[in-house]
Amino acid sequence: MRIGPEHVSRQPSDTYYVNHDTVLRTHTSAHQVELLQSGLDRFLVVGDVYRRDEIDRSHYPIFHQMEGVKLFTPAELAPAQGNPDRELQLIQDDLKRGLEGLATHLFGPTEMRWVEEYFPFTEPSMELEIQFQNEWMEVLGCGVVHPEIVANAGRNPNQDKGWAFGLGLERWAMVLFDIPDIRLFWSQDERFSSQFASGQIVSFQPYSKYPPCYKDISFWLPPTQDDNDNYQFHVNDLNELVRGVAGDLVEQMELLDEFTHPKTQKVSQCYRIYYRSMDRSLTNAEIDALQEEVRRLAESELNVTLR
Ligand code: DAH
Repeated sequence: MRIGPEHVSRQPSDTYYVNHDTVLRTHTSAHQVELLQSGLDRFLVVGDVYRRDEIDRSHYPIFHQMEGVKLFTPAELAPAQGNPDRELQLIQDDLKRGLEGLATHLFGPTEMRWVEEYFPFTEPSMELEIQFQNEWMEVLGCGVVHPEIVANAGRNPNQDKGWAFGLGLERWAMVLFDIPDIRLFWSQDERFSSQFASGQIVSFQPYSKYPPCYKDISFWLPPTQDDNDNYQFHVNDLNELVRGVAGDLVEQMELLDEFTHPKTQKVSQCYRIYYRSMDRSLTNAEIDALQEEVRRLAESELNVTLR
């Protein structure tokens, strides 16, 4: 899949390894090669994917993707008259038109924008962002399939050309059903699930706004250590630790402040953690206990020095 050892989708900081050899699927693009190899020219493939990531309303460690691939027939490429640049343009125009059309079909007139990106399996690559509750939200990655993917599938890259995309299904559902926070998909609360029925598109009616509560945590980062990177700090380790302690009670975490001590060169960071339940009010005692546990584990597992 043209994903070298350095790529984020292999990094322990961004993925969930089951053991040394096995990683939980990080994206459905992983299936492109095998499906092309099986002889398919167009397909959709849907699956659950797993990533260590930020904590905010549009990120969750498990989510679902829908991957789409289309290879063009010679007749479809004919208007480009065998000119590689024109073929690229033709494929890209078709891709953009299709995905913009999908968004407009589902959401009605919507503010959207294309952002250039890098993905190993497409060239060029881009992302589509949609305005949702006053912010831009990335809803898909896509591009023109890289010739090496086609070659790796045992096919002829001079003939088989086309596009691919990967949609974040929860995010599309957030826009479609007006669901403000991705955690809600995991809520067991009847007040959530009873609002939806198969085949119906409705706007979610928030049943409550429980108050958020935030706590700050400040620490000195561990010094950068040996070749095994053992003591290096990655923010996703903290994200994971906080999710492990607070589960769905954590809504967001942001870096508030960072500075380097002028003499020791040590780096200090301060994060703000927002706690809020989707379903009920949290008590002070409960939040204090969570924060205490986050502090304890940060010190013992991440080698940071609390301030
Ligand atoms: N796999 C990418 C992701 O998880 C999304 C993506 C980008 C899928 C480009 C594609 C593609 O099929 O061509 O962020």
